[in-house]
Amino acid sequence: MLLQIPDVLSPEQIRQCREALSNAEWSDGRGTAGHAAIQVKRNQQLAPDHPLTQQIGDLILQALPASPLFMAAALPLKVFPPRFNRYTGGGEYGFHVDGAVMSVPGTPHRIRTDVSATLFFSDPDEYDGGELVIEDTYGEQSVKLPAGHLVLYPGTSLHKVTPVTRGARLAAFFWTQSLVRDDGQRALLFQLDQSIQALRAREGNDAETSRLLGVYHNLLRQWSQT
Ligand code: NI
Repeated sequence: MLLQIPDVLSPEQIRQCREALSNAEWSDGRGTAGHAAIQVKRNQQLAPDHPLTQQIGDLILQALPASPLFMAAALPLKVFPPRFNRYTGGGEYGFHVDGAVMSVPGTPHRIRTDVSATLFFSDPDEYDGGELVIEDTYGEQSVKLPAGHLVLYPGTSLHKVTPVTRGARLAAFFWTQSLVRDDGQRALLFQLDQSIQALRAREGNDAETSRLLGVYHNLLRQWSQT
């Protein structure tokens, strides 16, 4: 399931982050690429141990629980500390699948990358190209969102970032290990959740919506792993 989540960060938060990031030193993104990815990756990345990686990453991690859409769609168990990349001057990242399990630097923790996320820090009119193209069961989906907006997509998908031919594309990216590993099951739970929310808003908490809510939780109980 591919889902756009608007306004995860406010325009003011984006402005402050971008101001801080404008003076940061960016390093070659190939430093963190695996054997296969290194052939297709041409971008810049903020070092994982850079103070801003931690600082802005924490800001994002604090914003996520405040987003009902993110919580319902990702059903997060663990979230990988966000990282930051920058594409400019023809930079691109060819088709690849992200590593299935990521080690969290400086900790013994590992995270299974069930759900991938990109949070845009540049507005679409600031750069040409730089589309995030995700191969979905419905074909290729091209995503380019306003600053502060987030896209979620299955960690299992093949994806790429097309060459940035004008301006610069700044974004954060991270992965979530979900309570529900399977994308299809997660998508069903999300649809059920959204329908229950809409029914409750329209009809209030009647017996049928309570029963449906029970079905939701009992499915989550069956499918979740903690
Ligand atoms: Ni990727």
